Amino acid sequence: MIDRKDVLDMSRRGVLLTGGATAVFAVADAVAQPVRPSQKGAMPAMQSVQLNVNGKVHQLQLDTRTTLLDALRENLRLTGTKKGCDHGQCGACTVIINGRRINSCLSLAVMHEGDAVTTIEGLGTPDNLHPMQAAFIKHDGYQCGYCTPGQICSAVCVLDEIQDGIPSHASADLNAGSYMSEMEIRERMSGNICRCGAYSNIIEAIEEVAGAKA
Ligand code: FES
Ligand code: FES
Repeated sequence: MIDRKDVLDMSRRGVLLTGGATAVFAVADAVAQPVRPSQKGAMPAMQSVQLNVNGKVHQLQLDTRTTLLDALRENLRLTGTKKGCDHGQCGACTVIINGRRINSCLSLAVMHEGDAVTTIEGLGTPDNLHPMQAAFIKHDGYQCGYCTPGQICSAVCVLDEIQDGIPSHASADLNAGSYMSEMEIRERMSGNICRCGAYSNIIEAIEEVAGAKA
C-alpha cells in the first residue's frame, strides 16, 4: 500500500527528473543553434542534367550543389581530373569547356548542359597521345603525377590563348597580342601548382609543343 511519504518521495523524484530534463534540453537547444536546413529534414534539390563529356552524352540526376569536378569523378568515374584544394587554388581540377580551361571545383555541374567538356581522358589515349601528353612524358614534366592532368589541360589551352591574342599579366602591350615567350607561359600556368616542383620540365614540354605549333 502506498502511504503519504511514498507519494511525497515520488513527487520529489518527478520534479528533479523533469527539472533535469528541462535543463538538458535547454543546453542542447543552445548548442544546436543555428539549425541547418538538412537537420530540419529538407531534401536537397535534384535536377536532371545532360553532360557532354569527351564527346559522349550522359544523363544524370544531380543535387544542384554538385560541382562539375564531383560529377566527373563521383558520377561518371572519370578520375583523371584531380581534387586538390577543392576551392580554386591549385588547378588540379582543370578541365576544358568549349575550348577554354576552368577550375571544375568552382563550377556547378548543372551549369554545363550543352557545353563540350573535355577531360584528360578525352585529350588522347595511351596508343594515340595528345602532343602535350607526349611532350610531358618526353621532358619528365611530372613526379607524383597528381597535378599532371590539370597541368596538361591548362597547357593545351594556354597555347590556344596565346595564339588567339588573349593578353596575360605578363604581356607588355595589351594591344599588341601576346608572344610565345617563357615568361608568358610561366605566367599563364601560374594557376597550376606542382608540389613536386616539376616546373622547369613542364615549361620545356610546353615550349616544345609551342614550337611545333608555331
Ligand atoms: Fe580545383 Fe584545386 S581542386 S583548384
Ligand atoms: Fe607531383 Fe606535380 S608532379 S604535384
